[in-house]
Amino acid sequence: MRGRERGGDGFVPASWQPAGRGSPDSKSGSPPLAPRLHKLAWKKSRLDSEGGTGKRFRIIGMPHESVLDRAAHYGVVPVVAIDHAEAALPLANALVEGGLPVVEITFRTAAAAEVIRTLARECPRLVIGAGTVLTPANLEAAKDSGATFAVAPGLNPDIVKRARQLGLPFVPGVATPSDIELGLALGCKLLKFFPAQALGGVSMIEALSAPYQHTGVRFMPTGGVNPDNLESYLKLETVAAVGGTWIAKRQDLMDGRWEEIRNRCVAALELVAKARG
Ligand code: 3PG
Repeated sequence: MRGRERGGDGFVPASWQPAGRGSPDSKSGSPPLAPRLHKLAWKKSRLDSEGGTGKRFRIIGMPHESVLDRAAHYGVVPVVAIDHAEAALPLANALVEGGLPVVEITFRTAAAAEVIRTLARECPRLVIGAGTVLTPANLEAAKDSGATFAVAPGLNPDIVKRARQLGLPFVPGVATPSDIELGLALGCKLLKFFPAQALGGVSMIEALSAPYQHTGVRFMPTGGVNPDNLESYLKLETVAAVGGTWIAKRQDLMDGRWEEIRNRCVAALELVAKARG
C-alpha cells in the first residue's frame, strides 16, 4: 500500500486526480492542493492505457485490492451520515473541490441508498463506499446502488462471504487479535480498526502490528480520529488510511456548510502529506 501511495507503480489514474474547483466531474487542471498527491495524480495509469476514464470502466473488472487501494489512497475516508438525498451533490462537490474524492455513506439513515445511487450516477470521479453495512440487505442495497466498496464496524463472516459473492470489496471492523485472524482467514487484508481511540489508539495498533504486520494486513482506524491525532495514525506502517466523521458532520450537511467541508478536506490532506513525508 505504502509503495503505491508513494507512486511506485503509478497506479493512480488520471480520472482520480484531485480535482479543481467546479463540478464533481470537473476536468480542469487546477493548482495542486498537495504537491506530492498532485504529482502522483498526473502519472499515466493502467486505466488510461486501457482506454477508459468513464464511470463503467472505473468499476468493472477491477480487482478488490485496487478498489480498496483507491479508497485508501488519499489517507482519509470521510464517513458520512446523510439524512437528505438533496445534500448528496453539494457534499460531493465540496469533497472533490477539497481534493478528497472518496466517501463512505453510512447505512444509518433511510436516505443512504438513494444518496449512493445519486453519487454513482452523477460523480464518476468519486470513490463511493457504503458504511455501517450490518445486514445482507444493506450489502445488496449498497451493491445495487453503485457503491464500489463497503465497510462495517464489526466482522460478521456471513456478511464478508456475501460481499465476496456479490463482488463487492469489503472492509470489516476489528478490535482484537482474534478478529484480525478471522478477517485474514476470510481473505480481508484491509480492516477497519474500530473504535480506534477507545481501543487504545496508536499504541494499540503498534502492539497489534507486531504479530500481524508480516501478513500484509492494513488497518483503517476509525472512531475518535481527528485532525489532532490523524498524523500519528498515518505514520504507522500498518495504517493504510483513517476514517472519520469530522470532515462532514450530519449537522454540517443540514446547515449546508459546504465551504467548511471543503476546507476540512484541504486541511486533512495537508496533514496526510506531512505524515507520509
Ligand atoms: C464510524 O462509524 O466509522 C464512526 O462512527 C466514526 O467515528 P467518529 O465519529 O469518531 O469519526
